[in-house]
Amino acid sequence: MVGVDTIIKDFQFERYMNLLLINGPNLNLVGKREPSIYGSQTLDDIQDELLNLANELDVRLQFFQSNSESEMINCIHKSDGSIDGILINAGAYTHTSIALRDALLGVAIPFVEVHLSNIYSREKFRHKSFLSDKALGLVSGFGPISYQLALQGIVSYLKRV
Ligand code: DQA
Repeated sequence: MVGVDTIIKDFQFERYMNLLLINGPNLNLVGKREPSIYGSQTLDDIQDELLNLANELDVRLQFFQSNSESEMINCIHKSDGSIDGILINAGAYTHTSIALRDALLGVAIPFVEVHLSNIYSREKFRHKSFLSDKALGLVSGFGPISYQLALQGIVSYLKRV
């Protein structure tokens, strides 16, 4: 049901900020996958908490997870024109995918790179990110809190521009 606040906002043409969280390969397994690195909260748990934060911040947040690089790219393309900011944990594609980098640059939507683990304290092959230098910011190593910090960061940034 549409609340009074929504009607007032739409009436005043003050559009809600629309954000999208994209999670890449194997992040659907979080909670059961290598819990000593990624923790015991599931992706659903993490997303539920994020929704609460999004409500507090008065922004709209949508979720997308895929193990497929092409689906992630299509999702980024479809965001063009409707999404104001993207949070992305590209999983292992962070370290390999020029195609994801090109897609994000192609739509020119500001994005924050997110990781549960600190990628710089792990194996050397995780130290390379094809996204970091083009990201608004990078949050890595705080477990599920990484997503919350990234959400707070992008909302603060977008409210100022
Ligand atoms: C990850 C780190 C990546 O190196 C890894 O491939 C992942 C998860 C993280 O959230 O810490 O799948 O992005």
